[in-house]
Amino acid sequence: MRFLVVLACLVLAALARPSTHDYLHGAQVLRVNPQTADQVHYLQGLLKTDLYDFWTEPHGTGHPVDIMAQAFSVPVLKKTLEQIDLDFTIQVSDVALLLAKDREANQKARAASGKAMDWTSYHRYDEIMAWLDELASTYPSLCSVKEVGTTYEGRTMKMLTLNKGGTDKPGIFIDGGIHAREWISPATVTYMLNELVTNSDTYDDILSAVNFYVMPSINPDGYEYCHTDDRLWRKTRSDNGSPFGCKGADPNRNWGHHWNENGASDNPCSDIYAGPEAFSEIEMKNVRNQILDQTNLVVYLTFHSYSQLWLYPWGYTSALPEDWQDLDDLAQSAVNALTAVHGTIYDIGSSTNVLYAAAGGSDDWAKGEGNVKYSYTVELRDTGNYGFVLPPDQIIPTGEETFEALKVVANFVKDNYRTP
Ligand code: ARG
Ligand code: ZN
Repeated sequence: MRFLVVLACLVLAALARPSTHDYLHGAQVLRVNPQTADQVHYLQGLLKTDLYDFWTEPHGTGHPVDIMAQAFSVPVLKKTLEQIDLDFTIQVSDVALLLAKDREANQKARAASGKAMDWTSYHRYDEIMAWLDELASTYPSLCSVKEVGTTYEGRTMKMLTLNKGGTDKPGIFIDGGIHAREWISPATVTYMLNELVTNSDTYDDILSAVNFYVMPSINPDGYEYCHTDDRLWRKTRSDNGSPFGCKGADPNRNWGHHWNENGASDNPCSDIYAGPEAFSEIEMKNVRNQILDQTNLVVYLTFHSYSQLWLYPWGYTSALPEDWQDLDDLAQSAVNALTAVHGTIYDIGSSTNVLYAAAGGSDDWAKGEGNVKYSYTVELRDTGNYGFVLPPDQIIPTGEETFEALKVVANFVKDNYRTP
């Protein structure tokens, strides 16, 4: 009986995620390293219960999993882990403290820079969009901004197009920020965009031969909610009809290629809720339309964090696309260039085989329905020291190394694809 009461409290607390960081005081992130298939299985069951916030998901023996528990449930989690003989280490001892420190670091960096846009701190959605507009007005012969629709809460979504070489060149589509709390993603995408545009002379060969379509922040409502209410928000912010008041769907379980077949949840309170139907989330529909609008896309790159992985389809099945070797080869070259910069190690493979099966990802759709051959999900830094709360002083090094990988991909397109 006591157990049931505790369980009921846990469920209610997990459902009613309060919209301030109070709920994170004393919250901890525990890292476990499952050694048996049974342990992995157990963790996967735990993931589905929504009792805890899995910062990374269980995907096989020998792969560490980071699990966040709120203060009152830390002892329960520890006990549960003991019961299945799973040792843990404490990865973050107080999440609220980590967030407070990070906030301070961000504010300090902002004050020191004094610029409207920089890569020493994380920026708000409006600042990023204003910066896109400014790029387009400063470099009108290089790039232009397109408004591509509005979000659930009414924010304008924008795409920057670089098509110096003419509209019919082979293209690379890039997006960031699909998961709200993965702040290094929009920061890295804007870093790379800035490099390309402000050093356009250096990259003239690439820019003349390849077009770029870039949307740095494709879950704006979620991203802003992270800034104003809950730093660890992942989903969109739509009303999904939940009687418990839970909001949003997982935008990376919402795409229409084998949608909701596995690795997603039907529970609107879950962080991996697939949504009521494919493309129920207006933001994903807007991005999809832009991908469909471009006829010569060769590459799709979607940036997430964290885990340092360069992933390719499929995410809905452990089977591989027939041309997987091509995708793997290009990924290897890109990652070699990335690692050469600061020694950062990445793993490469299909997302089901490296991680876990999860249908409804944008990468699967881009390849399976959008006909984009080289479709990748990139999981940026780190491997869990800070997780989603990557300190702002890692933006530039992350940008530097990831840009080298992007250059390899862009040069590959330039050398192997001709304008029809
Ligand atoms: N961490 C990402 C997610 O859970 C990985 C996505 C990989 N792609 C996929 N189609 N499952 O959304
Ligand atoms: Zn993500």
